[in-house]
Amino acid sequence: MVIEADRLRAEGRDLVDFGVGEPDFPTPAHITEAAITALRQNVTKYTATGGTRELREAIVQAHHRELGSGYKVPECLATMGGKHALFNAISVLVDHGDEVILPAPYWVSFYDQITYAGGTPVVVQTEEEQGFGLSLAALEAAITARTKVILLNSPSNPSGAIFTPDTFRAVLEICKQRGIWLLSDECYVKFLYDAAPYSVASEPGSKDFVVIAGSLSKTYAMTGWRLGFALAPAPIVKAMINLQSHSTSNPTSFVQKGALAALNGTQAPVAEMLAEYRRRREIIVSGLRAIPGVTCVMPAGAFYAYPNISQLLGGKGRPATAMEFSTRLLQEAGVVTVPGEAFGTQHHLRFSYAAAVPVIEEGLRRFAGFCSQLS
Ligand SMILES: Cc1ncc(COP(=O)(O)O)c(C=O)c1O
Repeated sequence: MVIEADRLRAEGRDLVDFGVGEPDFPTPAHITEAAITALRQNVTKYTATGGTRELREAIVQAHHRELGSGYKVPECLATMGGKHALFNAISVLVDHGDEVILPAPYWVSFYDQITYAGGTPVVVQTEEEQGFGLSLAALEAAITARTKVILLNSPSNPSGAIFTPDTFRAVLEICKQRGIWLLSDECYVKFLYDAAPYSVASEPGSKDFVVIAGSLSKTYAMTGWRLGFALAPAPIVKAMINLQSHSTSNPTSFVQKGALAALNGTQAPVAEMLAEYRRRREIIVSGLRAIPGVTCVMPAGAFYAYPNISQLLGGKGRPATAMEFSTRLLQEAGVVTVPGEAFGTQHHLRFSYAAAVPVIEEGLRRFAGFCSQLS
C-alpha cells in the first residue's frame, strides 16, 4: 500500500495518510539539544557495543522508576531501535525448528524475524469481542514441546489493545512451568489511556523467564534516531551484545546522548503527546463507529484504531478482502490504510491516528463516503 500511495503522490494526488506508524510531533527540544551538544563536543567515536554505561544505567533506572523492574547494567543493552532489540533477542532465543507463539493481530516484523531466525510462528487469534484479549485456553492449546518463546506486545500495534496484568501474570506462570521465554515488546508502554503503564518485569521472580524489548522511538517522537533497548538475564544480554558486535556495533554515539536526555529529563512532553492522542482517539473511534457496516474496538493504548469491515466485504461490487478494500479506498478516495492481512487478521484496516485532527476529520469524511457506496 505504501508503494501505491507513493506512486499516487508522485502523480500529484492529494492523499490522507493513516498508514504511517510514527508520531507527527517533533522530538522534544532538550533531546535534540543534547545530541547537538554531543556532536559539537566530538562525541563521534565508537562506544561500547551495548551502549555507554551511563546510558545503560539510565535505561535500567527509568524502567525501575516507571515500571517497577529491578535490572542491573549487565542485564541491559542499548540497540539501534526497538526493532533491532527484537531482532537480536529473537536471533539469540530462537533456534531452527523452535516455535514462537504469536497472538494475532501482530506487528508485521515479528512474523518475519521469527521466520528469519529459523523458527516457526504459531499464530493464536485473540478475541475481538473481548477487546482483542488473549484466551489462555487457546494459548495453552498452542504450546508444544518445541515452544521456545511467547511474544506479547501490549499496547498492540495494530489494534491498540492491551493485555491486562492478570493476563501477563498467567502467561508468566505458564512460561515458568513450561520453561518458555516471555518476550514482551513494550514499544508503546507509555501510551496508555485508561490504565497505568505496566511491565511484566515488575513481577517478582519474573527475570529468569522474561526478555523486554523497549524503544524510545514512539515515546519521545524519536523514530529516526534509532534507539531501543533490551532487558534480560545477563547471559542473554551477553549473547545479544556479541551478535551486535559483529553486525551493527554500538548505537550512534551522539544519539545515545540524546537518549540520555530523554530518559533523565522532563517527561512532560510524553504526557502532552498522550493527551493529544487521547483527543484524536475519541474523534477517530467515534467517527469510525458512526459509519454503517464498521465496528471498532476502543483502543486502550498506542495510536492505532483497528476497525472491522467484514460487513462491507463480499458481494456484488464490493471488495472481497481487506487488502482489496484498502487498495480501492486508496485509489478511489485517496485514503491510505494498512489492510489486516499484514497483521494476521482478515477483516480489518489499521488506521494510525498520529495525524493532526483536521487530517483525521478529512480522512473520516472520505472513508465514510467510500463505505456508503458499498453498504
Ligand atoms: C510493536 C512495535 N514494536 C517495535 C517497533 C520498533 O520501533 P523502532 O525500531 O522504531 O524503535 C515498532 C515500530 O513500529 C512497533 O510498532
